[in-house]
Amino acid sequence: MTKRSYLTTPLYYVNARPHLGHSYTTIVADVMKRYRLQRGEEVVFLTGTDEHGEKIEQMAKTQGRPVSEFVDEVAADFRATWEKMGISFDIFYRTTQLDHVAKVKQALQTLKDKGEIVFREYEGLYCVGCERFLTESELTDKGLCPDHEKKPEPRKEANYFFLMSKYQGAILSHIEKHPEYIQPEHFKNEMLSFLKQPLGDLCISRPKFRLTWGIELPFDANYVTYVWFDALLNYLCATGWPSKFDQALWSECTHLIGKDILKTHAIYWTAMLLALDVKPPKNLQVGGYWLMDGSKMSKSLGNVVRPLEIEEKFGRDTLRFFLLREMSYGLDATFSIEGYVNCVNAYLANGMGNLVSRVLTLCQKNFKGSFSEASLTEADHKALEKRAQTQSAWDKGFDELKFQNSLKAWSELVTHVDLYVNDMKPWALAKDPAQAVRLQTVLGICLQLIQTLAVLIYPVLPHASRETLQAIGVAGDPAKRVDLALENRFEYRVSQTVPKLFMRVQAPSD
Ligand code: MSP
Repeated sequence: MTKRSYLTTPLYYVNARPHLGHSYTTIVADVMKRYRLQRGEEVVFLTGTDEHGEKIEQMAKTQGRPVSEFVDEVAADFRATWEKMGISFDIFYRTTQLDHVAKVKQALQTLKDKGEIVFREYEGLYCVGCERFLTESELTDKGLCPDHEKKPEPRKEANYFFLMSKYQGAILSHIEKHPEYIQPEHFKNEMLSFLKQPLGDLCISRPKFRLTWGIELPFDANYVTYVWFDALLNYLCATGWPSKFDQALWSECTHLIGKDILKTHAIYWTAMLLALDVKPPKNLQVGGYWLMDGSKMSKSLGNVVRPLEIEEKFGRDTLRFFLLREMSYGLDATFSIEGYVNCVNAYLANGMGNLVSRVLTLCQKNFKGSFSEASLTEADHKALEKRAQTQSAWDKGFDELKFQNSLKAWSELVTHVDLYVNDMKPWALAKDPAQAVRLQTVLGICLQLIQTLAVLIYPVLPHASRETLQAIGVAGDPAKRVDLALENRFEYRVSQTVPKLFMRVQAPSD
């Protein structure tokens, strides 16, 4: 049976335009999807926008715009950005869509009827940036929200509460029994230690005098739903829940999230699902931050990089390569233009790009279209052995979400082919008629190795992969055929034009 899985990114708040921080999880999801499709699996990939809540309402107001018009515009910007970047999402989910609104109301009513939601007075410290109440222990020494560096507002009001505290034991045991639930490991430990303190109940409503831009509670028209309670349900609703629930798909779900939203997913979302009698997803994969000059890249700090602008400057798909090569999944990484330029030049322009153009130029002059297996020497066999080794290192990196390791192994193969060319000196063989067969074999081996490089890199560099395969005359589709990576092919129809895969780039001097 075909393996099916479900990959989700967070739904991005529409108070900011898409930036590099948003692109990271989206690109990781896209790369994982392409990797799985290449191996014959089916994948449903969801991304979208989180459109309710105070932040959004405030932002629209400061711009003097009707909120619905404002959210439509930013949601369209997210969608168009991902489309332009070739992100292969299947579902673009918006929390303002009517079916979502209806299902959130249904979930609320179910929980209310089960006695999981109660009405009570509450006093606490609210951070509008986080859209949640913070506990004293979460604040910095100066009493600020650590993520937004702002003082949370004291608030006292009567609200509806989801009785989350009673799920504390169940959440804890779910995390302990399913070691793969929260990854990487240090985030699991963070949640386990968080769960050592008593867990409070979750305030899931906002009075309309404070906020109208939200989903009205089905049981009290004076309130709207707390934005997180509404947004988290997206993942489940998109699988057809409740009436057409695709349980098989749900059971293979991975949520890719940033570390700032771990608590809302690991605690709130897990409790909500348990209360709704739905098994939590298989996996929460938690990523670190992209930092710039030591701080998290974020709209509120004003230090953001726009993904489309950067690709326009430095070349198609280079952002995908850079983000995966430079961040160790789960840890923070620093973005700098110098780092970007070095990465593109070293691995793409001087690496793969240069190799492909070097070998193709030699082939155009000297390759006759085929070579024979019988002519392979021990050195050739040895050179080819590296293909399978690279593929297994590549796969291991993907299995463990250590994309850096996959890309390191791939770059080593690029170097390996370059060294093979240096050692075999096909330009010298070309001058000696007695070496005519040897020349064909050497060039043929180079083409086989380039084929491996092109097929493996497909999830990360889909355009360069296709262009390379086309240039060496391999017709199979790398999107669906990982078997092409280790194919023993002895005929290549090399194109007469050398593709310009990656340009050497320079940091803008300003
Ligand atoms: N709307 C919520 C998520 C709801 S999911 C049901 C939200 N939105 S967000 O737009 O503020 O952030 C979305 C994701 O982008 C988070 O995972 C966050 O970690 C990620 N990033 C935003 N800036 C980032 C960096 N500078 N670096 C890496 N990821 C960061 O939270």
